Amino acid sequence: MGSITLEQVRKNFGDVEVIPGVDLEINDGEFVVFVGPSGCGKSTLLRLIAGLEDVTSGRIVIDGQDMTQAAPARRKLAMVFQSYALYPHMSVRKNIAFPLKMAGMAAEEQERRVQHAAGILNLTDYLDRRPGQLSGGQRQRVAIGRAIVREPSAFLFDEPLSNLDAALRVNMRVEISELHKKLATTMVYVTHDQVEAMTMADKIVVLRAGHIEQVGSPLELYRSPRNRFVAGFIGSPNMNFLEGAAAAGLGAHAIGVRPEHFAMSTTEGAFSGTVGVAEHLGSDTFLHVDLDDGTHVVARAAGEVPVHHGDRIHLTPQEGRVYRFDQQGLAL
Ligand SMILES: Nc1ncnc2c1ncn2[C@@H]1O[C@H](COP(=O)(O)OP(=O)(O)O)[C@@H](O)[C@H]1O
Ligand SMILES: [Mg+2]
Repeated sequence: MGSITLEQVRKNFGDVEVIPGVDLEINDGEFVVFVGPSGCGKSTLLRLIAGLEDVTSGRIVIDGQDMTQAAPARRKLAMVFQSYALYPHMSVRKNIAFPLKMAGMAAEEQERRVQHAAGILNLTDYLDRRPGQLSGGQRQRVAIGRAIVREPSAFLFDEPLSNLDAALRVNMRVEISELHKKLATTMVYVTHDQVEAMTMADKIVVLRAGHIEQVGSPLELYRSPRNRFVAGFIGSPNMNFLEGAAAAGLGAHAIGVRPEHFAMSTTEGAFSGTVGVAEHLGSDTFLHVDLDDGTHVVARAAGEVPVHHGDRIHLTPQEGRVYRFDQQGLAL
């Protein structure tokens, strides 16, 4: 249970086509992340799957059944939003049990499910508290608990960590990944943050302007981006692009080199330039380099490198780590 198939799913808002026709296969038990810049249609696509928006055309099949016209409740999916929208005057227990109460479930079964979810989420000791007495991370877990008790065939998350501070986001990322391992239920997760996508996904769907640019595992996208957009979007810091002579020499319109794939030398290399900002983090050194042809690139070395602002530096891409792109931005 928990497979979702989109066939030529289109969505217009009035005259504006937001999703121009998407085909996608989500397998049972998969952790699928929709990632792309703000406004590219991630939430819309998730809401179409949930049934919170009607498709303009196309088909949505859930567990082999055509659910295109089905009301949200019939789809057996549970959505977790960025704003967790807990009821402040209700206890954690009542917040988690709320959808079950609304469905008229027997009180003992409600309590059994709440206890089960609380156990998974480490909320057992907090069931009698109100949301106001919880930390941000705990509140987000209550919202997830409310989804778990419904025993959905898939979870849909829309940027659930955006309201949390950076450190908490990292923790919650791991928690949600662990939750996926425990529940082994399909999860579809929307984020604009490619690091979240890379760290959590079995399968990443990269979206741009409603189009799927590429679908693949994190490392497939990292290693073999199909075009310049995916190449630039996946990986942090971003891939560097060089045009002009450097690219022409390799028979391409542009070449791409990731910061971690430059070898640095103070004496010689394929590209020469001057160090602007040097970021010494201890674990890594990031050099912002102005190459002699005017291109700005970032190079990363592991550990400490004694190079500073104003130094001359020479960069050579590692063997087999140069990406080539044509004029349209397609990978060659
Ligand atoms: N209800 C709506 N009416 C009109 N336009 C909408 C509506 N919802 C979303 N849009 C538009 O659809 C596009 C995609 O939005 P959205 O799916 O929210 O993007 P994302 O979640 O990737 O940031 C945006 O241009 C947005 O303005
Ligand atoms: Mg959104």
